[in-house]
Amino acid sequence: MVAAPGRVNILGEHTDYSDGLCLPAAVDRHVVCAAIATEPSEDGRFRFESEDHPSGGTWLVLAEAVAAELDAIGLAPAGARAGLASDVPEGAGLSSSAAFEVACGLALATLASEAVDLAAIAAACRRAEAAGLGVPCGPLDQIASCFGIEGGAILLDCRSLDTEAVTLPEGVALVVVDSGISRTLAGSPYADRVRECEAAARRLGVAALRDVSLEDVPAAQRVLPPGLMRRVRHVVSENARVVEAATLCRGRGTTAELGALVDESHASLAHDHEVSLPAVDDLVAACRALPGVVGARIMGAGFGGSVLALVDAAAADPAEVAARFPAPAVVLRPVDGAHVLP
Ligand code: GLA
Repeated sequence: MVAAPGRVNILGEHTDYSDGLCLPAAVDRHVVCAAIATEPSEDGRFRFESEDHPSGGTWLVLAEAVAAELDAIGLAPAGARAGLASDVPEGAGLSSSAAFEVACGLALATLASEAVDLAAIAAACRRAEAAGLGVPCGPLDQIASCFGIEGGAILLDCRSLDTEAVTLPEGVALVVVDSGISRTLAGSPYADRVRECEAAARRLGVAALRDVSLEDVPAAQRVLPPGLMRRVRHVVSENARVVEAATLCRGRGTTAELGALVDESHASLAHDHEVSLPAVDDLVAACRALPGVVGARIMGAGFGGSVLALVDAAAADPAEVAARFPAPAVVLRPVDGAHVLP
């Protein structure tokens, strides 16, 4: 039996597919998978039964894609019977699909082999999402679900895939607000943003926008059309904000300083990366107006989904603040990444 958590991303949004930097935390909402090894099914196919998802839908596609990716690297059992349960809300920006993939992946790999390599599972699950759903996502969600740490965040370098544990400023509480505007990545302009960032990198002659620094921005402006330039400004400034956040977390940075970076991130996501919606901007503004909130921004892929608000627990009780948000909100606690349950 294994558990894989959902995630929040504190900073570093829409940077992962440009080899950039992110600051996610795995949170206390999990997909749990119980599995036993069996003989292979007679026709070699999957069966999926669910009261909530009678046809299996996306979940069946994802489970099959994860098994196929694991099989390709010799990490799938010949056959398995598994049951899954989840309290990660769907379509709310907490990466329910990554948690599902990682739970399936870790359960199957644990049946197939004694030495389980979480990094290989995270990579296989990312490939499964691309193959199964056609979403060209970066490595953020699967790595956060695998490598989160209790009580803190991780600094993720999406080029080397190295992670470093980061302690958050004392008293910072993570609250996620569901905008109620649901979206699927496959049906959103997410893939356009990926393509635009790749196109901008090509025109600038770099492998990825990760290779562009704040100092390079004026020169880039002379080469790129305004639309692509806005994407560059977002990725470059967002990477810089992650570096600044990690530095302040390593030092004596405050909740308010981290909150200010989160606010700047929203402005950049809304104006330069253009992944917000007016209704989400309004929700962000309403969250910020509440006492105790030190920063708020759209989180995840965007175009709806959820808002992350940082609450200073020294100034207000996070649960009381969450109850006053204009949309359903939960206080989330950073937890360890995917693991086999004792
Ligand atoms: C989604 C994708 C991630 C990442 C975020 C935006 O969650 O799955 O790979 O690109 O959007 O930061």
